[in-house]
Amino acid sequence: MPLLEVDDLAVRFDTGEGSVHAVNGVSYAVEPGETLGVVGESGSGKSVHVLSMLGLIPKPPGRILRGRAIFDGRDLLKLSERELREVRGGEIGIIFQDPMTSLNPVLSVATQITETLVIHKKLSRPAAKKRAIELLDLVGIPDPHRRVDQYPHEFSGGMRQRVMIAIGIACEPKLLIADEPTTALDVTVQAQVLDLMRDLKRKLGMAMIWITHDMGVVAGIADNIQVMYGGRIMERGPTRAVFQDTRSAYTYGLLRSLPDHDQPPVPDAQGRRPRLHQIPGSPPDLFRPPAGDPFAPRNPYATERCLTEAPPLAQAPGGVPGHLVAAWYDLRSVRENAA
Ligand SMILES: Nc1ncnc2c1ncn2[C@@H]1O[C@H](COP(=O)(O)OP(=O)(O)O)[C@@H](O)[C@H]1O
Ligand SMILES: [Mg+2]
Repeated sequence: MPLLEVDDLAVRFDTGEGSVHAVNGVSYAVEPGETLGVVGESGSGKSVHVLSMLGLIPKPPGRILRGRAIFDGRDLLKLSERELREVRGGEIGIIFQDPMTSLNPVLSVATQITETLVIHKKLSRPAAKKRAIELLDLVGIPDPHRRVDQYPHEFSGGMRQRVMIAIGIACEPKLLIADEPTTALDVTVQAQVLDLMRDLKRKLGMAMIWITHDMGVVAGIADNIQVMYGGRIMERGPTRAVFQDTRSAYTYGLLRSLPDHDQPPVPDAQGRRPRLHQIPGSPPDLFRPPAGDPFAPRNPYATERCLTEAPPLAQAPGGVPGHLVAAWYDLRSVRENAA
């Protein structure tokens, strides 16, 4: 039984200028203990698709058009605001990109962590405070007895992100959702936070959805990678397969735009490493989403059919089980022929 099963989720924003087709039929499952990396350029629907499941998009203008999100046997999309509040921070932990906006500046760290524990775990205040100190220690904050009584502005960016992580894992969630948790950090601190998350995942055994625009960031932490574009899943599969047996032209473009020292770009048929490049063209107009494959206008391998008919997400021919791609073209053969 998957821990989370998302089925045909579609989300729109109704604005004065028209309707933004932010999420356009997303289906996938997360197994207990799995780490799923969700990757895509800015605007691809990564945040909206998880926020809508958690009841965190503003309605209006947001509107869940259709779909289901079964978490631990219950459809999150059918829960009341009260029930969702219980799930958030309880069974599902959440970490956002910018701790400065998600932490309350006028409350001490102790208050913010203990609040979660009192609400969700029904701990007494003293027990919650004790646990808060343990949590700060667990996420690598030195001198936690003293620091627990400090305020967010007294912490560095990296330490604030660790506080956010402590809050995210406080109730030992079955699922932790991290939306660009390291994006605002410099690379050294980012690496430390990634190490911490790997370590916590091993210790706590929770499942994780890690959202990022940077393939390099999730390469070392995700079991599976899911690439999104134009509010759709373009490719999904075991991390190794997605990196080494890439089937979507969009994923291929993302990999080629990675700097060498993070993760080598996929070599071409002659074993040459392509130079770093930007994907030419611009993202789809979500007010008027294309009828076909949303990446088709930027895809040199697109066929006539790609422009008119959206391909379903299906098992990649000859790929490992669970390696799925949404494409009418076969990236392997077009690249072989191009070589
Ligand atoms: N409150 C909103 N009103 C209108 N459009 C929105 C709103 N929130 C998000 N969007 C749009 O939804 C699309 C998907 O956004 P998002 O999921 O945040 O992208 P990502 O996280 O992949 O960068 C974008 O086009 C964005 O502009
Ligand atoms: Mg986002």
